[in-house]
Amino acid sequence: MAGRERSPVIDFGNMVAGVLRGAGIDPGRIRGDLAERFRSAHAEVAARRASGEMGFFDLPEDAGLAAATREAALRGRRGVDALVVLGIGGSALGAAALRDALLPPLWNELGGEARGGLPRIYILDNPDPDSVSALLSHLDPSHTLCNVVSKSGTTAETMAHLLVVWRWLERALGAGGIGNRLLVTTSPARGTLRGLAAEFDLPVLPLPEAVGGRFSVLSPAGLLPAAVTGIDIDAVLGGAAVMAGRCATDELARNPAGILATLLHVADTESGARTQVFMPYADRLRGIAYWVQQLWAESLGKAVDRQGRRVETGPTPLPAFGAADQHSILQLLMEGPRDKVVVFLSRETPGEEVAIPSLFRDTPALSYLGGHTLFELLDRERLATAEALRREGRMNLTVTVDRIDAESLGALFMLFQVAVVYAGALYGVDPLDQPGVELGKVLTCGLMGRSGYEVPEIPPPDPRWRV
Ligand code: PA5
Repeated sequence: MAGRERSPVIDFGNMVAGVLRGAGIDPGRIRGDLAERFRSAHAEVAARRASGEMGFFDLPEDAGLAAATREAALRGRRGVDALVVLGIGGSALGAAALRDALLPPLWNELGGEARGGLPRIYILDNPDPDSVSALLSHLDPSHTLCNVVSKSGTTAETMAHLLVVWRWLERALGAGGIGNRLLVTTSPARGTLRGLAAEFDLPVLPLPEAVGGRFSVLSPAGLLPAAVTGIDIDAVLGGAAVMAGRCATDELARNPAGILATLLHVADTESGARTQVFMPYADRLRGIAYWVQQLWAESLGKAVDRQGRRVETGPTPLPAFGAADQHSILQLLMEGPRDKVVVFLSRETPGEEVAIPSLFRDTPALSYLGGHTLFELLDRERLATAEALRREGRMNLTVTVDRIDAESLGALFMLFQVAVVYAGALYGVDPLDQPGVELGKVLTCGLMGRSGYEVPEIPPPDPRWRV
């Protein structure tokens, strides 16, 4: 990471008054009241980290866990042509973001040789029978490694997938063959999954207790699938460590995560920009936009603050993708209600370049493109969109990595994780819990007949209200 301490860079000029036409945050506040506010958010986060609640901060330094992950990956991928990750929410989105960013596009469609003998990767998160049966009938169980990932070891979707996959493996390999093809990532201390792994002697990797599901991408939850498919997880962790160092200061103007959290918080609470659009201009960063959406929504959308007062707060994170969504959501961003802020994600250099040929020189609608590259077009579209928003007085900022690689991804993960815990402190809520998703889980268990769970009374559909 030497020489890359400045990547990613956050350019927030289009958030500040004087640059943003007719609106924006007074830049003097960054060394004034916002700096003070941030200092106390920083102190709250530091105290919770010191008390052991925020284990994600420590993952980049956990050499033992990284080594165990690498070893499990090397063992697990022997003789394997496909990896299936069984997990949902925080137990799937990090692995998907790493896959999208760091494996070559169309990875699963490449032949074994082009993949360097490394496995294809599939993620089973949604229990949709159409997708699950299509996938399992497409794969050969004797050459497939299944990695079941669940911190709690109880999540209904993941447990259902485990049962389906268990039967699929058992039928093909016999009960004795399951241990070679099933690897468990779960809490080191508790949960049904842990007990099952012990009973059947399945390999297990820990998802550390102090690491919450949506903060688990730098644990084996995200890194085991990455390592199985040949991603350099040490580089991911190295990039995260450098970023954690950059985000350690309590001086707002020098802390990238602090700037991100503070400006988005001010945009929401003072300027009514309640929707935060995360908009990568790189297909390989699509996964990270979905990962950020979950990180933001579950961490900041809260009914009560840390004092127990009812607040019903939290910005709405919305992924959008440039340049395609310029032909979809941009009209709304430009001219609709001024209740949004756009966070562009960009990179300075593409992995590959595609030249646009100079053809049809007498056709103006085509000839101006010739001689440029597709990256130039995509990146100038991003620049043009940011500028158009600025001219309309609509807040936006840009997070730019120098290139998309393992170190950058690690840095982005750490940047957003640190930003969201600072944001939690600024909103006054607990970014580490998610009580709102519990009721739906409890009702599902009741509806599926789990013992100890009451079958909820759900009124039947009323014909008067159906059409
Ligand atoms: O962030 C979270 O805590 C959730 O999104 C969980 O990751 C998700 O519900 C899956 O939980 P588990 O890993 O316990 O199966």
